[in-house]
Amino acid sequence: MTPINVALIGYAFMGRAHSNAYRQVGPFFAPRRAPRMKVICGRSAPDVERARQALGWEEGATDWREVVKRKDIDLVDVCTPGDSHAEIAIAAARAGKHVFCEKPLANSLKDAERMLAAVEKAGVSHMICHNYRRIPAVMLARQLITEGALGEIRHYRGTYLQDWMSDPAAPFNWRLDRTKAGSGALGDIASHSIDLARFLVGEITEVAADLKTFVKTRPSRSVPELTELTEVAELKGRSRRRAAVPMAEVTVDDAALALVHFANGAIGTIEATRMANGRKNYNRFEINGRLGSLAFNLERMNELEVYLESDPPHLRGFRTIMVTEPGHPYVGRWWPPGHVLGYEHTFVHTVADLLDAITDGKVPTPNFADGVANQRVLAAVERAAKTRRWQMVN
Ligand SMILES: NC(=O)c1ccc[n+]([C@@H]2O[C@H](COP(=O)([O-])OP(=O)(O)OC[C@H]3O[C@@H](n4cnc5c(N)ncnc54)[C@H](O)[C@@H]3O)[C@@H](O)[C@H]2O)c1
Repeated sequence: MTPINVALIGYAFMGRAHSNAYRQVGPFFAPRRAPRMKVICGRSAPDVERARQALGWEEGATDWREVVKRKDIDLVDVCTPGDSHAEIAIAAARAGKHVFCEKPLANSLKDAERMLAAVEKAGVSHMICHNYRRIPAVMLARQLITEGALGEIRHYRGTYLQDWMSDPAAPFNWRLDRTKAGSGALGDIASHSIDLARFLVGEITEVAADLKTFVKTRPSRSVPELTELTEVAELKGRSRRRAAVPMAEVTVDDAALALVHFANGAIGTIEATRMANGRKNYNRFEINGRLGSLAFNLERMNELEVYLESDPPHLRGFRTIMVTEPGHPYVGRWWPPGHVLGYEHTFVHTVADLLDAITDGKVPTPNFADGVANQRVLAAVERAAKTRRWQMVN
């Protein structure tokens, strides 16, 4: 079968992760239509050329508008910051291309809705990259819930903790600029907890929330000696050297908290912060049902903790399942039991399912409709934090 020709827009963190997925998916998943890594696109020609060589793309380009119109491109993969998702995805859909887009889908609900309308009108396949759904342990959690092993679900506790913004001397970047990122920890990482909540428990109908920005200005560029000076600067007020560094205003939240109600009657909490010292990528959930509980933490992503009331009373307790058996979702494509998978595999699994959906003329999940549903929750959280009142998700 003919390959699926891919154009990747953005070549940094996610650009590297997606490139790796296109390289790995063929040998391990043998998709009926293999991806062909046709063109990688960014804004600076020398940087694009370096990325092209390092990541294995055939061509480099610096104008995404030209790229998405090319007749030899089938799939446009959007790995840029949120402020350009809508423009690129809509142009790609109008040119008849399938679209794969990083999360959050857009920087506003309105843009997300425009993106969904564009892909639906064009009749193309579309997918949002909530890659954590495709961790074998998360898939197993979903299977247990769907089979009824937990009974009625009562609680979802989603916690996504990082610490890379904890130091006030950490320099400004696009993730701290509302015009580029839409929001802070909320859109960046709570969006993943929201997606997992929707995937595992169901739709969120109502939220109460709080958002907090602890560090309101940051050095606009990295200054190596600033980190050591921070404590001194905090003790003595503005140090002369700190004052010499241009400061930039942080216009997003550092931390986001929400209480949530689900359509099925469950209640939950979602907490996301980039200031939880010591927590690097602690994307954890715990789900409690009438008949049992599940717990998962991305930092130990090959394991799922399971507690079942149906166990004999003297043996009840959380057990830790190594989700590395050939019968576990996706695992049979990789290594023997116990030969653990990592972060990068989540993108390979996502791309494998996307390629299959395109081949079959289908729309995979999570898709732009899921992106819009997620964005409705993000918008409701912002409204709730602003008004200090519960808000309906609509
Ligand atoms: N799925 C995940 O787990 C995950 C993890 C990290 C980031 N993300 C998402 O991926 C997206 C990109 O984040 P990142 O961490 O890769 O950012 P990054 O800063 O590492 O890379 C952004 C890339 O986009 C390019 N770019 C920016 N504006 C552009 C434009 N107008 N035209 C062409 N190229 C442009 C930059 O040159 C760079 O190559 C964001 O939406 C982010 O939320 C998702």
